[in-house]
Amino acid sequence: MHHFNQNTIANWDRFYKSNLIQSITGFKPACLIGTISETGQPNLAIFSSIVHLGSNPALIGYINRPLSAAPHTLANIQSTQVYTINHIKASFVNKAHQTSAKYEAHINEFTATGLTMQYMPGITTPFVAESAIQYALQLVEVVPIQHNHTFLVIGKITDIFLKEIEPDADGLISIDKAGSLACLGSDTYCCGNIIQRFQYAKPDRPVTSIL
Ligand SMILES: Cc1cc2nc3c(=O)[nH]c(=O)nc-3n(C[C@H](O)[C@H](O)[C@H](O)COP(=O)(O)O)c2cc1C
Repeated sequence: MHHFNQNTIANWDRFYKSNLIQSITGFKPACLIGTISETGQPNLAIFSSIVHLGSNPALIGYINRPLSAAPHTLANIQSTQVYTINHIKASFVNKAHQTSAKYEAHINEFTATGLTMQYMPGITTPFVAESAIQYALQLVEVVPIQHNHTFLVIGKITDIFLKEIEPDADGLISIDKAGSLACLGSDTYCCGNIIQRFQYAKPDRPVTSIL
């Protein structure tokens, strides 16, 4: 067994530590966040720290790194209040990964990486046309995390668009069928395969498969 204590962790090489700590939390959603500036400049960047915060209302959070590292998405969200989240498929994962490069504010990452902007009626922010699962959010709250100067950005889902897939009868979206990818750390991508579904767990009922 390997045991690493906090002294060992603190002394690791920066990139080794970053890879290990980013992967230890497990597989994360690989998504592209689309935004637009007040002057109409589109922006696209890949994010994986996306988390469900509640279903009623439908709240989704993500962590934005410090503004010095990742300035454009958060600035656009704060000025226009609207953003889109788009799942990533293997067919365009290379382009999606390239959006993590530090492009200048006047560069449109859709154009720079070869992804296609898609506008939906009544929504001012672009989606990624290549994505099979897309949703739009209205900003609710930006919570600064003082300990490391990151931000928890909370949005309410306003619109959902599903292509090539529909929800199961009980609402679950089997996102593996749409080819949605997960990621590990900030450079590794993988597929998900649903292997089991269970009934809501109750203390007085044995675990019951529903697949
Ligand atoms: C797989 C992957 C996942 C990432 N996840 C996040 C994330 O959750 N939060 C974040 O702030 N940056 C994340 N990044 C880094 C951003 O994509 C990068 O900082 C980008 O340049 C931000 O662009 P912006 O300034 O246009 O917002 C991730 C990068 C990769 C490759």
